[in-house]
Amino acid sequence: MEVIHSISDLRARIRSYRRKNDQAVGFVPTMGFLHEGHASLLRKAREQCGLVVLSIFVNPLQFGPNEDFERYPRNAERDLYVAEAAGADIVFMPDIKEMYPGQIRTAVSVTGLTDRLCGASRPGHFDGVATVVSKLFHIVQPDQAFFGLKDAQQVAVIQQVVNDLNMPVEIVPCPTLREPDGLAMSSRNVYLSEEERRQALVLSQALQKAEDYVQANANFTAAQLNQLVSRHIASAPLATIDYVEVLEYPTLQPFESSYLSDLSSIIIALAVKFGNTRLIDNLILPVG
Ligand code: PAJ
Repeated sequence: MEVIHSISDLRARIRSYRRKNDQAVGFVPTMGFLHEGHASLLRKAREQCGLVVLSIFVNPLQFGPNEDFERYPRNAERDLYVAEAAGADIVFMPDIKEMYPGQIRTAVSVTGLTDRLCGASRPGHFDGVATVVSKLFHIVQPDQAFFGLKDAQQVAVIQQVVNDLNMPVEIVPCPTLREPDGLAMSSRNVYLSEEERRQALVLSQALQKAEDYVQANANFTAAQLNQLVSRHIASAPLATIDYVEVLEYPTLQPFESSYLSDLSSIIIALAVKFGNTRLIDNLILPVG
């Protein structure tokens, strides 16, 4: 496995690979502090591609002024170990100057899909994500890029960018990996105190309840699911709900009820704060 810090070195390395091979180049963009969720994306890329490129870059553009950019967890040494074990060939670790050498005056901004869920709670967040992912796609020029459905809105936003701007890359959505007790894996889970970590279990439990409800009631309403999930989360005294929303996926459009509608998939998405730590989780259910 090679670690590369500069854009020009990375481009030269990928060009030379492409001259000698016609296998796909796979790309997994991350912000590091890698866990099994990230590793699962790398393993999927390893299965499908000849060259697997991982990027580790904590992108300042996607953090709000009062968010955790400065204290976002970092551990380069451990990341390299996880990356190698999961099958990465190249780890691209640019510093901020390499990615943003001057003031950036161009942004990729997606309308509609970004005005709800995390887009509503984190203004500017998805412009930052869409911009850095577009830059990374131009740098790496992958055939396939692997994204986790843990960040389902991010997947929908990136797919929209790729469609709208005719980027020659296939987006491969991958399932959410969870801890054995159900908590969705996240780099931010390390912020949780022991008691918060225990109470954070209500998130996956609430989604499980919603899934059971949908299975038992073909005619459910968005409001019923919302209430079921919100009530369960509210049973944890340390939980503060940022949002619970039940929408169509991947359009992220509201719907009233499954009754006589032609919904194909729905998403039950939530963001909940435990102290200063904001966790997200979701469940995507094929319906109809
Ligand atoms: P980061 O939060 O590091 O996540 C990198 C990738 O790992 C994303 O595609 C995310 O959905 C996926 N991932 C995170 N937790 C997961 C889990 N439990 N199971 C499966 N996949 C999981 O998302 C970002 O970084 C950034 O926004 C980025 C796309 C790199 C742009 O800066």
